[in-house]
Amino acid sequence: MNLSPPQVRRLVAAARRAANQAYAPYSKFRVGAAVLTRSGRIFAGCNVENASYGLSTCAERAAVFSAVSGGHRELTAVAIYTPTPRPTLPCGACRQVINEFGPTATILCVCDSSDRLEAALDELLPRAFGPGSLG
Ligand code: THU
Repeated sequence: MNLSPPQVRRLVAAARRAANQAYAPYSKFRVGAAVLTRSGRIFAGCNVENASYGLSTCAERAAVFSAVSGGHRELTAVAIYTPTPRPTLPCGACRQVINEFGPTATILCVCDSSDRLEAALDELLPRAFGPGSLG
């Protein structure tokens, strides 16, 4: 999908803001994510860790679940921000969750340098298992 420059700016700003809410006392790795819905809305999320480490949730999934909880099931783009020198790509579990609602979504990873990564979800998760796989 071709995002307009203002859409990109709004989405990246929302992901950056969300990282300020990250609860990451164990890894100290803060992540913010923002998803753009087909209707033009933006929903954000951050990683939320837990003392029982395995229960921690990634920022991308928090953002996707927020959009779906708000009634928006079609995602066209996802921005991910980490306060690092290089951009961070979404983990495999988050790719799978994004696939459910945005199989061709644009994934835009930004950081504290001008380095950016942009890819389509189906490049990051080729030949995915998805809703259609269930017949
Ligand atoms: N994390 C994310 O929020 N998104 C990813 O795609 C990778 C990892 C979080 C999970 C955990 O809180 C911390 O980063 C370190 O793995």
